[in-house]
Amino acid sequence: MTQHHKRPSDGGLALPVMTESEWTRWAIGVLHGDANRSADTHLTKLSFKGMLGISVYLKDESTHPTGSLKHRLARSLFLYGICNGWIHEGTTLVEASSGSTAVSEAYFANLLNLPFIAVMGASTSKQKVDAIIRSGGQCHFVDDPSKIYRVAEQLAFDRKGHYLDQFTNAERATDWRGNNNIAESIFKQLALEQDPEPTWVVMNAGTGGTSATIGRYIRYSGFKTRLCVVDAEYSAFYQCYVNGDRMASCALPSRIEGIGRPRVEPSFLPSVIDDMIKVPDAMSIAAMHVLSDRLSRRVGGSTGTNFYGVCRIAANMLAQGQTGSIVSLICDGGERYTSTYYDPAWLDSAGISIHREMEMLNGFLDGGSFDLIGYPTS
Ligand SMILES: Cc1ncc(COP(=O)(O)O)c(C=O)c1O
Repeated sequence: MTQHHKRPSDGGLALPVMTESEWTRWAIGVLHGDANRSADTHLTKLSFKGMLGISVYLKDESTHPTGSLKHRLARSLFLYGICNGWIHEGTTLVEASSGSTAVSEAYFANLLNLPFIAVMGASTSKQKVDAIIRSGGQCHFVDDPSKIYRVAEQLAFDRKGHYLDQFTNAERATDWRGNNNIAESIFKQLALEQDPEPTWVVMNAGTGGTSATIGRYIRYSGFKTRLCVVDAEYSAFYQCYVNGDRMASCALPSRIEGIGRPRVEPSFLPSVIDDMIKVPDAMSIAAMHVLSDRLSRRVGGSTGTNFYGVCRIAANMLAQGQTGSIVSLICDGGERYTSTYYDPAWLDSAGISIHREMEMLNGFLDGGSFDLIGYPTS
């Protein structure tokens, strides 16, 4: 069906109308142009005295134009929606998000002059809310974060718009075989390293889409690398992994923004995961602080969850006399969390103490102390 539409943002000038297929070609061209102007993210190599014989690599997704790994997902969801014929000129886009995805989607909606509404929990960080508004998006808050899906779907329906639905579409909108997805990019960047096939990749889960892409890509490429997914304290994913229950739920909202979900999201694929570790929030935040100190710049809470997973696996490898390499992600930077994880008053009010955990991590990184292995994780 061909419909006639006005050309987007004509700066006040009357321009010829565009057909639907012309708009689609224009929109895809804009997204390709944006990607063409962008660079890939760094794979940073770290070394620690306590991890002799083990190399650690962190894929730094905080350097995307919208500051997080969700830049990749947002782009994929837009391409998926446009190529499926679900997004047209003027379509109102709606998303349920804990914030980072909405920040990235607001950026792409702005590029395409499309209205965008983010449905988020009321506690979403102010920095993320400000970024969405700066890109021209609107924020719709709900008190109970488990309601974001239903509210977003209803809003999209009411406005005859499109619900981007990252939690369902993350695993299918991403080209998991290649097309420079995050896994392909990591393995290409490792090509000249001593261990081009890492022993482990460690990733947390929000939608579960990134771990699904990495797990599938590892199998597709025939690598021996194993995938460990680290879950937040308040989250349903670990329970699903352990007993196969896709109806598992968690009554309390996750305190690690971006990861840990009240329900098992459709994009979470336990079958491609080799191991899972449940990480207490105090340890995630301690690991975030420790890594930030070592990098001399701040990372976000979910990166702390990843870094604990890296340390725990490295400790186990060393205890068993193994060498090799471990890859994980810097999911976003710490500037979004100055008034939460980096604020001692916020930590006190949340009842989170991180001193013992920080000591354990620093002891391991500097001296190979293995107290970490006894830390309770489930
Ligand atoms: C900061 C942050 N870290 C990690 C994740 C998890 O990524 P994924 O949704 O691919 O599981 C998210 C997802 O929103 C996030 O916002």
